[in-house]
Amino acid sequence: MTRTGGLTGEASDRLRKIMGDTRTQEDDRAESLRATQRFYDRLSRAYDLLADAGEHTVRDRALALLAAAPGERVLELGFGTGHGLEALARAVGEDGAVVGIDLSSGMHEVACKRLERAGLATRVALRREAVPPIQYPDGSFDAMFMSFTLELFPAGTIPTLLAEIRRVLRAGGRLGIAAMNASGQQERPLERVFRFMHRHFPHIVDCQPIDVAGLLHAAGFTQIELHGLSIWSLPVAAAVACSPAAATSRSTQSVAQNTASGEVGSAG
Ligand SMILES: C[S@@+](CC[C@H](N)C(=O)[O-])C[C@H]1O[C@@H](n2cnc3c(N)ncnc32)[C@H](O)[C@@H]1O
Repeated sequence: MTRTGGLTGEASDRLRKIMGDTRTQEDDRAESLRATQRFYDRLSRAYDLLADAGEHTVRDRALALLAAAPGERVLELGFGTGHGLEALARAVGEDGAVVGIDLSSGMHEVACKRLERAGLATRVALRREAVPPIQYPDGSFDAMFMSFTLELFPAGTIPTLLAEIRRVLRAGGRLGIAAMNASGQQERPLERVFRFMHRHFPHIVDCQPIDVAGLLHAAGFTQIELHGLSIWSLPVAAAVACSPAAATSRSTQSVAQNTASGEVGSAG
């Protein structure tokens, strides 16, 4: 893949043409999405064994913060093996609706089976596609959820994705997130390892710690509540935030952080 420095869009494509490279950024994105899909298709049956022991407590905390309620319409992006979908479908009840979007057909199959076993398949619609964009009209959902998915996107794409999330949430809708969380100035050794691996071997380590609260704030989300946790000493966060024009029932502080919650993922 040709690197064109900080150039984006048309300027980058023009420079590539001058250099004799006829591929566009769209070509690169399509190739990268195909690689991501192949990666998660291969991983789908083993994913819970490899990752869920550490991640499920953080996901459950984020689900509790999101507090999906009966009758709500909820969208989960990157649903993986479907644990989040199952919890959300139970929470919204028979009058609610859950939609899941994930690009991996392997994950789709595993999640489908989970929902069928739980008797919840009729409450959840699954779509196999890549985001962003999110193919729904403005204000379609009361709440959205992402678990260990936001940090997979390139740094330049995260603001675009968060803008899309804001668009499809109704005013005052909530976004729940579980993610690897950058610890700021005092970067922990494992965090450094992740960054190094992600930079040099992105096909092996496809994620890196992100500044969850900062990104939500920059995207215009309000009433951000973030709980700092860790998995194997790697900082992670469970967070919830509101799209603007929210009712003021949650904390009025723009970012309320609780970073004293400790280790959650030491079990193998
Ligand atoms: C690390 S897994 C997390 C799965 C699940 N949320 C969990 O907590 O166990 C990330 C998921 O996001 C999906 N994904 C990655 N990039 C995506 C994209 N651009 N559009 C839609 N889904 C994507 C992958 O297929 C995978 O299922």
